Amino acid sequence: MVATPIKTENRLTMQTSVIAEGTTAIRSLDWDRDRFDIEFGLQNGTTYNSYIIRGEKTALVDTSHEKFRELYFNTLTGLIDLKEIDYLVISHTEPDHSGLVRDVLEKAPHITVVGSKVAIKFLEELVNRPFTQEIVKNGDTLDLGNDHVLEFVNAPNLHWPDTIFSYDRATQTLFTCDAFGLHYCKDDLYDEDLQAISPDYRFYYDCLMAPNARSVLSAMKRMDKLGEVQLVANGHGPILQHNVAELMGRYRDWSKAQAKAEKVVAVFYVSDYGWSDRLSQAIARGITKTGVGVDMVDLKAADQQEVQELVSRAAGVVIGMPSLSGPNTKETTATLGTILAATHGKQFVGLFESYGDDDEPIDPLLNKLRDAGLTEGFPAIRIKDTPSEATYQLCEEAGTDLGQLLTRDRNIKQRKSLDTDLNKAMGRLSGGLYILTAQKGDVNGAMLASWVTQASFEPLGFTVAVAKDRAIESLMQVGDRFVLNILEEGNYQHLMKHFLKRFKPGEDRFAGINTQKAENGSPILGDALAYLECEVVSRMETSDHWIVYSKVDRGRVSHPDALTAVHHRKVGNYY
Ligand SMILES: Cc1cc2nc3c(=O)[nH]c(=O)nc-3n(C[C@H](O)[C@H](O)[C@H](O)COP(=O)(O)O)c2cc1C
Repeated sequence: MVATPIKTENRLTMQTSVIAEGTTAIRSLDWDRDRFDIEFGLQNGTTYNSYIIRGEKTALVDTSHEKFRELYFNTLTGLIDLKEIDYLVISHTEPDHSGLVRDVLEKAPHITVVGSKVAIKFLEELVNRPFTQEIVKNGDTLDLGNDHVLEFVNAPNLHWPDTIFSYDRATQTLFTCDAFGLHYCKDDLYDEDLQAISPDYRFYYDCLMAPNARSVLSAMKRMDKLGEVQLVANGHGPILQHNVAELMGRYRDWSKAQAKAEKVVAVFYVSDYGWSDRLSQAIARGITKTGVGVDMVDLKAADQQEVQELVSRAAGVVIGMPSLSGPNTKETTATLGTILAATHGKQFVGLFESYGDDDEPIDPLLNKLRDAGLTEGFPAIRIKDTPSEATYQLCEEAGTDLGQLLTRDRNIKQRKSLDTDLNKAMGRLSGGLYILTAQKGDVNGAMLASWVTQASFEPLGFTVAVAKDRAIESLMQVGDRFVLNILEEGNYQHLMKHFLKRFKPGEDRFAGINTQKAENGSPILGDALAYLECEVVSRMETSDHWIVYSKVDRGRVSHPDALTAVHHRKVGNYY
């Protein structure tokens, strides 16, 4: 079972390996995937995994991203004659896995496409030519012969509405596509280095799965009825073999915690192979950072009764405006009607529009929702150009603003409930005053901090506690670089005042501030007493903060005789 790497110049490579009896993995390795989608924040590239299962009949599970067209087909045809493939199992229709389905069907029109009802419907639009199809439901099986019986598990919203998993009883392999995946591109075929993959596994879960936590738990309940799972043949990153129970267990624990959220926001989007789902994910990520739950619903594939039930109990509603034209206008219009009828005056609302002219216009709907008494959780987001990193940052921050409105009262109450003596005693813990600054691509962030402590000599390192719902938290993932600006006694008030302002989503936090660029690209504040250039090494989770441990690469003091500003508190229930 030796993996065979096939390298090309533009850092797109292929790797194939037999992973179980009759089962071959074909991994498309995308080493430099841009940080275009939010879940690629850790910049470790990604892989698109496809599989061949050979019984008496042969099935191909998923394909690859279209950028791998030539490489993928060269590799596939080196492994099998396309005439020998009987089935193409589509786990879901997102383009990074189904981008080459049309090509497969052009080259081998005899293949039967197997997928959920929703996936087949989406594919008909995508492929635009008739094909032989087999719609499968939860519990259905497909017998490939030689004991390779595939059993299908319905897994809607993980993370597309049309997702199914396939379980091969012969090899106890579960094919899960996006679920249990991670954006991590290394030659490692398997998950042997648990420590190395953990930050990416978590980040991927937070971005794609946390907003669908209840769907994760439902799918896992259905998975429990299958036999033992030896291998998780996912769609991105290393295949899970060494830590299957541990990594699946993490999904269960994180999703249980997420599903306990007292308040939920319903986020409606359209899986249109465009931006709507990406933008809604960024908003959802911003909301979940505040501890508020999210239920994501595709306007095209929504069940009206579920929409009605969800909207009535939701504390907030976010809607990505669907296109006015196109094959699903009837469905999306009906769902919008159901949403409107179910909203009530105590809710918060946020709208976004991603295609400009073609979209259902925001204003008439916003007016109707305002008339119904709803409050805007963030100003409507109108995107006319191709979304950039800054657009995703704006969406995430808008989501966080909405979540903070929903949690504000609870947080104040919690803080007030602290025992007075304990609160005063805790308040005697004190620290310095610092401003964290970060620049990553075309997005930046800054935050005033006082929970900062040196934590190691070699390498020089310190920790900072960053509240989970801080905007800058997204720029402080493992491997990210930033600057710690140390403020000067008697010369910090103006900086403190500036950085404690309430910034609008996406607003430039450095406007009017004197900065220089550090070697790591992040801003150094001109008025800081000293600065340190840092790189995040690891993160520890507490109930409401991330303890971010970073090593320091270089630093400088600008006023050697001056002292660090110290922050004395009276109470322990705020900074
Ligand atoms: C004196 C002081 C110290 C602070 N220290 C921290 C800290 O160590 N960690 C933290 O997450 N927030 C801290 N905060 C809160 C944030 O600085 C502030 O709420 C933040 O800039 C708002 O950013 P946001 O837009 O990301 O919510 C502190 C606030 C004050 C007033």
